[in-house]
Amino acid sequence: MTPSAATEAEPLIPVVRARTVYIETFGCQMNLADTEVVLARLGEAGYRRVAEVEQASLVLYNTCAVRDHAEAKVRGRLGALKGLKRRRPELKIGIMGCMAQREKEQLLAAYPHVDLVVGTDQFVRMPQLLDQLEDQGRLAATSFGDFEDRMWSATRSSGVNAWVPIMRGCNYNCTYCVVPFTRGREKSRAPAQIEDEVRRLVDEGFAQVTLLGQTVDSYGKTLGDGTTLAALLRRVHAIDGLKRLRFVTSHPKDITDELLDTMAALPKVAKHLHVPAQCGSDRILRLMGRRYSRADYLDMVRRARARMPEIELLTDIIVGFPRETDEDFAQTVALMEEVRFAGAYVFMYSQRPDTPAANLPDDVPVEVKKARCNHLLDLQLVHQGQAYAPLTGRVLQVLVEGPSKSDEAMLHGRSLGNLNIVFPRVDAAGTGRDDLIGQLVDVRIARSTSLTLFGDVVA
Ligand code: SAH
Ligand code: SF4
Ligand code: F3S
Repeated sequence: MTPSAATEAEPLIPVVRARTVYIETFGCQMNLADTEVVLARLGEAGYRRVAEVEQASLVLYNTCAVRDHAEAKVRGRLGALKGLKRRRPELKIGIMGCMAQREKEQLLAAYPHVDLVVGTDQFVRMPQLLDQLEDQGRLAATSFGDFEDRMWSATRSSGVNAWVPIMRGCNYNCTYCVVPFTRGREKSRAPAQIEDEVRRLVDEGFAQVTLLGQTVDSYGKTLGDGTTLAALLRRVHAIDGLKRLRFVTSHPKDITDELLDTMAALPKVAKHLHVPAQCGSDRILRLMGRRYSRADYLDMVRRARARMPEIELLTDIIVGFPRETDEDFAQTVALMEEVRFAGAYVFMYSQRPDTPAANLPDDVPVEVKKARCNHLLDLQLVHQGQAYAPLTGRVLQVLVEGPSKSDEAMLHGRSLGNLNIVFPRVDAAGTGRDDLIGQLVDVRIARSTSLTLFGDVVA
């Protein structure tokens, strides 16, 4: 072989190995978990994951539809793929996830270079759908199907935390929300199956498991046998070798005393609730169809803190819902002042087609939405700063997750709540500490910003 031959025959179009998949995931942890499932099914069919679109024979976008902005990002990605598809017509492009479920075949009409649209109950059939594609050309598979075991089993890249979906869908109908349309009715997974999976994950070396559901605290209702999240927590908590157990996201209405008592009693369960308030005004909560009042929410907070004084509460807030006045907004500010959340995701209301709220005029001007959003984000940072400062000198138990994303010289991890804690990656003697990844260590806090606590490992 002559070395020059390769340069002579340099192809204009790179040669792409068959059965290579590039996948990008948008949206929530449920989508991340679904991506792991789809990669498992594709792996069984001989697909290998690649890191660049250019190297892939199949490009998949696992999409989110919760706000217009999330969909706009995907539209941008699809637009950018037109050229590649023209150069390599054999490239297959698929859209899965919530936007696929919402828009169905309309996506095929809007994007002639897209081959495949796969709904949120159909993605486990991805290999079969790809075969079908070879025979019949472009297709959309978006019916809500049966509940299948294959919908759960995933291959995971190694790490400290494993996401474990324990239910799918949502039986609430918050008037602004697209999730009930994109994910269908609530269905819970059998507790024995969850327990088996967690056992396997612990054997594989995962230190923490995060149980996932849109309203995870309503887990079990559809099983009809009295199963509750509290009972599941007790069952999973008993697994030897598991170091931390988390669950997201909770609906305020489903936080029972049984659940709170169980969280308080089980040492490995994170003292943390992601329990979106959405708003502090009763008038708007009613328009949102949230099914609790401001007083109910505050009562839930009181019940939680009575049992777990240091519990960290994380909220989502929507600003600029239709008809939200300055007075309504002031009620949200007051709620945040009263509760003092450990964290807050603040979103500007985005009108979603076909939701009940789409019948109301989207009448809060975008500048007002932005100003309210910034106001709450600033307030939240003040609250976090005030909550973190007194932690200086305290020793917190940290599950070490890995190198800090913002500073390679540091390791980062989470408290039993959900505080982000960093400490030096080498000790005073210059010895590396990467072997602590996946371990629980005690860290003494030395200083903080409103986002991060800094400290060092206690000998
Ligand atoms: N199932 C979870 C979260 C669902 S979506 C729950 O009920 O808590 C995540 C967050 O997006 C919601 O909590 C809400 O704050 C926000 N969201 C949902 N629909 C929205 C919309 N139309 N506009 C703006 N934010 C929205
Ligand atoms: Fe959407 Fe409400 Fe269901 Fe959460 S509880 S997913 S906000 S409908
Ligand atoms: Fe988005 Fe669907 Fe999750 S709409 S937030 S990806 S459930």
